[in-house]
Amino acid sequence: MTATIPSATGQPLDRVDGYAKVSGRARYSAEIPIPDMAYAYVVGSRIAAGRVTGIDASAAQAEEGVLAVLTRQTLPRIAEQPPLIPSLAGTAAPGQTFFPVQDDTVHYAGQPIALVVADTWERAQHAARLLRVSYEETPPVTTLDQGRDLAYEPERIFGGWIPGRSERGDVAAGLREADVTVDGTYTYAANNHNPLEASCTTAQWDGDDLLLYDATQGVNATQMTVSRLLGIPMSRIRVIGHYVGGSFGSKAMIHAHPTLAAMAARAVGRPVKLFLTREQMFTSVGHREEQEQQVTLGATREGRLTAIRHLKLSPTSHFDDWAEPSVGTSSQIYACPHYEGAYRLFRANTMTPTFMRAPGEASGMHALECSLDELAHELGLDPIELRLRNHTEVDAMTGHPWSSSGLRECYERGADRFGWAGRDPRPGTRREGDWLIGTGMATASYPVAPLANPQRARARLYADGTAVVQAATPDFGTGVATVMAQVAADGLGLGVDRCRFESGDTDLPNIAAAVGSAGAGMISAAVHSAATALRRQLVDSAVADPGSPLFGADPVRVVVRDGVMTAGAASESYSDLLRRTLRPDAEAVGQWNPPAHDVPYGMMTFGAQFAEVAVDADLGVVRVRRMTGAFAPGRVLNAKTARSQLMGGMLWGLGQALLEANHMDPDTGHWVSSSLGEYLVPVNADAPDVDVELIEVEDDVVNPLGVKGVGEIGQVGVSAAIANAVHHATGRRIRELPITIEDLI
Ligand code: MOS
Repeated sequence: MTATIPSATGQPLDRVDGYAKVSGRARYSAEIPIPDMAYAYVVGSRIAAGRVTGIDASAAQAEEGVLAVLTRQTLPRIAEQPPLIPSLAGTAAPGQTFFPVQDDTVHYAGQPIALVVADTWERAQHAARLLRVSYEETPPVTTLDQGRDLAYEPERIFGGWIPGRSERGDVAAGLREADVTVDGTYTYAANNHNPLEASCTTAQWDGDDLLLYDATQGVNATQMTVSRLLGIPMSRIRVIGHYVGGSFGSKAMIHAHPTLAAMAARAVGRPVKLFLTREQMFTSVGHREEQEQQVTLGATREGRLTAIRHLKLSPTSHFDDWAEPSVGTSSQIYACPHYEGAYRLFRANTMTPTFMRAPGEASGMHALECSLDELAHELGLDPIELRLRNHTEVDAMTGHPWSSSGLRECYERGADRFGWAGRDPRPGTRREGDWLIGTGMATASYPVAPLANPQRARARLYADGTAVVQAATPDFGTGVATVMAQVAADGLGLGVDRCRFESGDTDLPNIAAAVGSAGAGMISAAVHSAATALRRQLVDSAVADPGSPLFGADPVRVVVRDGVMTAGAASESYSDLLRRTLRPDAEAVGQWNPPAHDVPYGMMTFGAQFAEVAVDADLGVVRVRRMTGAFAPGRVLNAKTARSQLMGGMLWGLGQALLEANHMDPDTGHWVSSSLGEYLVPVNADAPDVDVELIEVEDDVVNPLGVKGVGEIGQVGVSAAIANAVHHATGRRIRELPITIEDLI
């Protein structure tokens, strides 16, 4: 069949849900109006380690409007704790293998120890303050300094997906062969997600049927997780998340609160809304762990890498071996015969850390790309030239060719737009008044996630010529709803204004959670498959129908545009066909099976980041003056939403470099920051001009439309480009994130 000429895909269309969101018409999970609603407040542990010895709830229970105080004595036991597997696997995805309010042990500060349910949110909060909780406290372990000597090498990390160690060749030999070595230890503060919408679940029982409105990246992941924890059939649970107000990974795993909301609703016999306060977002949905990474590079005088060693130390919870996979990309993206990457973990009084935008790459590429900058400086080579000398057209770990790359073009076009050529490499030589000026660059790379399960979508065309396309996974702010209408329009041969995308409901065809920058690729694959299957069905029906002007035409030669099927001089619209044959609608389900894990290709998205900073020579203040990012994300489905994603990622990278930080108080095991007043993120006044260049590359391996994803790569390498620019400005290597005034004065 001749493909319709793509016209909608790639266009910079405005978001279809933009008006609903800015006008307040969009209803988020905390805003679903249900009669007779009760409200649950989660009570978190004050101590970080030890035991709850008693909870006196008498005063709380006596308060007006209080319906229940649920503690480990009254809350039901969970049926089964499913294993910790990242939600992109299409499985249950609890955020950690410990479920709270089941025993008296306290593993971390803020761990839920009770729920207070009342007829209003204010009464629930007030009554919670009246609980008298007694503890037996033991000294917590939370910080790198406290845990360093307790560290062990885990067999696997990240829900078992990633080995704790990866090696090729002989790094010691590679370092002996080297003419030059650089070695650096990088430390990172912990980071917390701060989406605009804090997590919320509204739970409503109808007999044995459970309806959850959940702020989640994957409604199916919520459904499976709650089903396993409560021991009720998946077929009895429906999860809806029509609007989700951002996430950055905080809603990728299914933390305890959706299940707690369902338990509370059953206990009081009313619908229950459970939302986390902004403060609770710091202790309830995972975080990017504090960490230390050591990178050692060996190279010949000509700048060819002989060895890379990349080690990471970080705290994990008492129950899961979790580290964000910071080591990994460093094994793949540069040609180098000898490699060693390994994780060390120590058990700390923390919940299990989780995904946070570019989980692993954002921190791992920082250490690698700062080390390369240092190496370039040692060798007297331009930083881009050093990278080109170690450029690889194959995944250096597996030897498989990239499914597509575009990295050379990213360096070229990025350097061109930024004005890199002719840069004086000597640090500290450019000065404008009080400001020292420097520029820096870094490579960006982010893997195209290998998804496990088949992805499905449904396309339905009505007799009036309008279409709806459906898939379960919500648009959590990325623009999926807009982009999928475009993909469906081209697949069906309809105008994009005739196509609507519906999502965020487990009643719709299953698609894995939108994580790992894989949403656009996997959802477009399923939508494309459904839309083209429906077009084929309609064309086949027309050419086989003696009543159609297309009767007898070769279906392969039928072209569809604006809902009209044409073969030579003959044509009939979809509408005419359906009306004439007395069909109110037609529909098709499309399925896409992702490539197998052992596909003989390396699948990686590439980019190049450039930054210019000004550092106040006396005050140590760093201002980022401009940033350029050039990215090769395969096919671009919507130039506007893609650019917005990448720009947001780059600004997030600025935050990672200069602002975002949380620390544990070593004595109490509490986060030092737990509000947006204390936990700093970039605001408009911090934001410079951000220049985004999109370089389309063809890729016929990753998915049918060749979409590699833009959700996370925008951030990768930004902090390194900024740190390298700070070195260029000042001559100082700051190996700590964020880089603060204190580091520079
Ligand atoms: Mo993304 S941090 O994989 O939700």
